[in-house]
Amino acid sequence: MAYCATKNISTQGLSVLVFVLHISLVYCVSTSLPSVDDVVIRESVVIPSTNSEQEAKELYDQALKQYGSYGAFARNICSTWENRGCQCSGGVEELALSCRGVGFEEIPLDLPSDIVKLDLGDNNITYLPSKSFDTVPHLEELVLSDNTISKIDSEAFIGLHKLKRLSLHNCGLTVVPGEALKRIRGLTTLQLNGNAIMELDGFALKHLKSLRTLRLEGNMLQKIPTEALIGLASSLEALNLGSNHLFSINEGDFPLMENLHYLLLKRNRISNIATGSIGNLTKLKVLDLDDNLLSAMPTGLEQLTNLQEL
Ligand SMILES: *[C@@H]1O[C@H](CO)[C@@H](O)[C@H](O)[C@H]1NC(C)=O
Ligand SMILES: *[C@@H]1O[C@H](CO)[C@@H](O)[C@H](O)[C@H]1NC(C)=O
Repeated sequence: MAYCATKNISTQGLSVLVFVLHISLVYCVSTSLPSVDDVVIRESVVIPSTNSEQEAKELYDQALKQYGSYGAFARNICSTWENRGCQCSGGVEELALSCRGVGFEEIPLDLPSDIVKLDLGDNNITYLPSKSFDTVPHLEELVLSDNTISKIDSEAFIGLHKLKRLSLHNCGLTVVPGEALKRIRGLTTLQLNGNAIMELDGFALKHLKSLRTLRLEGNMLQKIPTEALIGLASSLEALNLGSNHLFSINEGDFPLMENLHYLLLKRNRISNIATGSIGNLTKLKVLDLDDNLLSAMPTGLEQLTNLQEL
């Protein structure tokens, strides 16, 4: 271990200080060629303690916790879950657990509290009870896709203060769980695609003031969910309404949405787009209308000055 000779500094002039630092640097480097872990651990060393062995261990643990992508701590957590058929990756700061298709019938109660990403897709989870995730407060991404979820308690998502991305793709949902979603206000991406949702009321997404991406493709919507969009008007950037049962776009369907860049409407049965009905989407860059029943170019697109792709 290199203790660089800095204790003289206070009594020396500036040029000496530079000199001393220079010498010590040379000394530190020349004693050994440090690996990244060495440097990290050495930088944490301040004063030798009376119990240097204990301190070394603490510093080592601290460094692992902070930097060790394959740290012992994470390895410990991971091996427990790998025995249950899951995959585990990342360091403690971004621990990700994927338990796809392992046959869980419930949300596990003993999830490691440090996880940042959790994938419970393709299991047999049918019910999300109250406080399903309140032991994992660092979670930023939660995937529940490919389960058949028939009931979501209104307090199921309580405690997920950091959650940014939620996937409920292909979960057999017929309604949007508005009460439950109310608890995750920081959400930026919501996947509700591949369900059997027929309508969204004004309450469904009302509290998701940070939502930027909403995927609703592959549902059974017969009209643009105007009421739900009003609440997202200032945040939403991408909206996918493809593969639904939409047949016409009417005036008033889209509220003023100043940040919507992507609107995907492909694979519907749209035969009519009222003039000016998308004029409120002033920032639209991409409008995808493939595979619809339009016989002519919709009129009123010339107002959309940012449009790059149609
Ligand atoms: C889910 O349950 C069904 C029937 O109850 C069973 O056939 C299937 O294997 C289960 N899936 C998993 C991943 O365990
Ligand atoms: C534009 O949005 C406003 C509300 O934001 C709405 O009242 C109006 O009907 C919309 N215009 C069109 C042409 O859809």
